[in-house]
Amino acid sequence: MKLSTAFLLAQATSHLATALNEPSANQIQRRRYAKSSKSKGGKDPEPPAPEPEDPSPYFKRASNFFICSQQGASCGSDDATSAEIVAATPDGMTLIYTDASRGGVGRVDISDVNNPLGTGFFDVGGEPTSVDIHGDYAVVVVNTSDDYVNTSGELHVFSIADWKLLKTFQLGGQPDSVAWSADGKYVVVAIENERDEDLGDGGLPQMPPGFVVVFDTMNAAPAMWTQRNVGVTGLPGVLYPEDPEPEFVSINSQNMAVVTLQENNAVVLIDLATKAVAGSFSTGQVALTNVDIEEEGVITQVHPLTRLREPDGVVWADDFHFITANEGDMDGGSRGFTVFHKDGTVVYESNSELEYITASIGHYPEERSENKGNEPENVAVGMLDGKPVAFIVSERSSVIFVYDISDVTSPVFLQVLPCGQGPEGAKYISSRGLLVAAAEVDDRDIGARGVISIYDIATSEKPVYPYIIAPGIGWGASSGLSFGSNTKTLYTIEDSFYGKSRIFRMNAEGHPLVIEEAIRIMDTEGVLEAAAPGFFVNADKTVNLDPEGVTLDSKGMLWVASEGNGSAGDGSAPNVLVQVNMMGVIQKAVLLPPEIAAKKLKWGLEGVAFLDDGSDDGLLVACLQRAWKDEVHPMVLAWSITDNDWVGYFRYPLDKVESPNGGWIGLSDVSVHAGMIYILERDNMGGPDARVKKVYKVDPKTLSWNGEVATKELVYDLLPILKTVSQGLTPEKVEGMAVTSNGMYINNDNDGVDDYNGATYVSFIPLIL
Ligand SMILES: *[C@@H]1O[C@H](CO)[C@@H](O)[C@H](O)[C@H]1NC(C)=O
Ligand SMILES: *[C@@H]1O[C@H](CO)[C@@H](O)[C@H](O)[C@H]1NC(C)=O
Ligand SMILES: *[C@@H]1O[C@H](CO)[C@@H](O)[C@H](O)[C@H]1NC(C)=O
Repeated sequence: MKLSTAFLLAQATSHLATALNEPSANQIQRRRYAKSSKSKGGKDPEPPAPEPEDPSPYFKRASNFFICSQQGASCGSDDATSAEIVAATPDGMTLIYTDASRGGVGRVDISDVNNPLGTGFFDVGGEPTSVDIHGDYAVVVVNTSDDYVNTSGELHVFSIADWKLLKTFQLGGQPDSVAWSADGKYVVVAIENERDEDLGDGGLPQMPPGFVVVFDTMNAAPAMWTQRNVGVTGLPGVLYPEDPEPEFVSINSQNMAVVTLQENNAVVLIDLATKAVAGSFSTGQVALTNVDIEEEGVITQVHPLTRLREPDGVVWADDFHFITANEGDMDGGSRGFTVFHKDGTVVYESNSELEYITASIGHYPEERSENKGNEPENVAVGMLDGKPVAFIVSERSSVIFVYDISDVTSPVFLQVLPCGQGPEGAKYISSRGLLVAAAEVDDRDIGARGVISIYDIATSEKPVYPYIIAPGIGWGASSGLSFGSNTKTLYTIEDSFYGKSRIFRMNAEGHPLVIEEAIRIMDTEGVLEAAAPGFFVNADKTVNLDPEGVTLDSKGMLWVASEGNGSAGDGSAPNVLVQVNMMGVIQKAVLLPPEIAAKKLKWGLEGVAFLDDGSDDGLLVACLQRAWKDEVHPMVLAWSITDNDWVGYFRYPLDKVESPNGGWIGLSDVSVHAGMIYILERDNMGGPDARVKKVYKVDPKTLSWNGEVATKELVYDLLPILKTVSQGLTPEKVEGMAVTSNGMYINNDNDGVDDYNGATYVSFIPLIL
């Protein structure tokens, strides 16, 4: 019995709703995780001590292949490129992926899983939508339509040995997916003839109707193949029977194809031997238990919601059951996955579980609450440790959920894997026991590059990912970091992505870090409102700060550095240091000295740390992110808690920009250890463009706090370790640092999974300091 992260996440799922002051009514959770109990109301009990457990095999990400590297190893081109669907050669050594942005397919040598190598790109003269491989051949389906009405498409057959185009078949419509039967006898193409979302209200029906094309390959050379169309109009269970819109296809070992009709909330089964429709049924709807349906900047998973499943990806789990990823299209999207018997019976429904898991690992996409939540897009099956597993691909949370499906009627969550932004397809490579996943978002301006992630298996007590979990607490965008009264406790905070600021107390004793308490910052005594009227305090006395740094002072009070916004004099939010007690109630609010506040630009307070200067209550050291108006350097300021006054500031000399993509460099956090001031300095670049992620120190004994330019000394270059923990998807926003005698913790801000793949990495860097 494996508890580990699965157990802790299960705790999250079972009592998230309770933590949000709502009853939890998820029967599925109760049945499966009866072990997780919790007292109602009041404070959360201590989480269970981690149970001793034997190491077991888990998937772990070995590497990321950057699609842009096909155009130059350093990814120096801004051209959009992407990967959506990926297939592998039978020996598992080569991947073929579709790249709709560039209109072709790419090839990757993965014989060394830690070092994937691009080996070419091939134009296909249209928009490739899917690829599959069997034996000596690869089939690629290509949309060659100019519009939604006069639709056309092609199936290209390549020989994988020399990558020669052997034959092109006309499909007579716009293809969306292709699958090849395991015995090699049939190739099935779903011709969607997709709707024009901008035509009228985008609703169905929109002619021409889609259909399914079945190729009899007879395991022969492509010249021998025959093709036949299978009509799928007029079927029962389909919302718009005249316009089926076939989406995704999977074939079982009996050569029965299942095809999703996403917009029609239905599936159709086709017997490939006879080319006859064997059945069709509606995929129905799900009454979701407690999900988040409001984009108000708070993760509130308390609303029931009933939605059509509208499945996108589908895969057979065995010859009788298939799994759908319920992405949703027109009116639906039920935020989970379902296991159906081929007779149409639902044998398992994940309900809200994926939503809860994403919230507890910091991957809940709050900005998608009013749409389709984490949006499961696709599904694949494979094996782990001799057990069949399903991989559920979440497009908006940018993770892959791994479930044990030994019993298809009761899948058990095992682990979650990080991937690139916007994953579309996953493929298990049985010949090598590897998983690969393609993520399509590619936009160099926001630091997102399309990648194929490659996962192998390693034995460990806990999965490598996630690095932070929060049983029962939805979180994200964790910014600053600091130790509590000892190094077993870390504090972090959420930034302005969320509208009711919180501080998180984490148990740092094991992997992953566990958020044990969320402290909601409150201005019940009116302190912040008095200091900065009209900016931060919500009607319920919660506050909407932009917290970027946190620290604990000698009196057991927490201080939060909140970044202001806008430029000077336009009345925008001021930078402020806020002192709160352990209940979160604001005790003091400190604005910057007026002469410094007058220079305000964006990029204000980013970090705060407590420095014992020998006075009764000590000092706070707080850094600005970048140089303000008329300044060359960012300022690092000191506030005397003892004297209740500003001491002064020094100017911090930044490194030079080194990224080939330009950008800027600024300060991200400050920490104090053994009387030294440690400063985290970074550029605003991620992935292959990241260059400067460094920790420096400044000795306060050399400072007069009179505005002098300080001398800094390099302590550690974080780039190598960031590349290692992220397998090259280096996070841009390294924003938290906590330094102690045997090393330092660092973490990154995941931006609330908005315009970023949402990964939060925490590294402890052992150093004698
Ligand atoms: C592919 O399909 C869509 C709609 O069916 C169309 O608008 C698009 O231009 C197509 N063709 C190519 C080459 O991308
Ligand atoms: C339809 O598209 C084909 C190419 O895909 C083109 O040759 C033909 O002229 C088009 N017909 C119309 C009526 O636009
Ligand atoms: C500045 O912050 C305030 C308070 O948090 C917010 O209401 C306002 O929209 C922000 N303005 C800009 C320009 O970001």
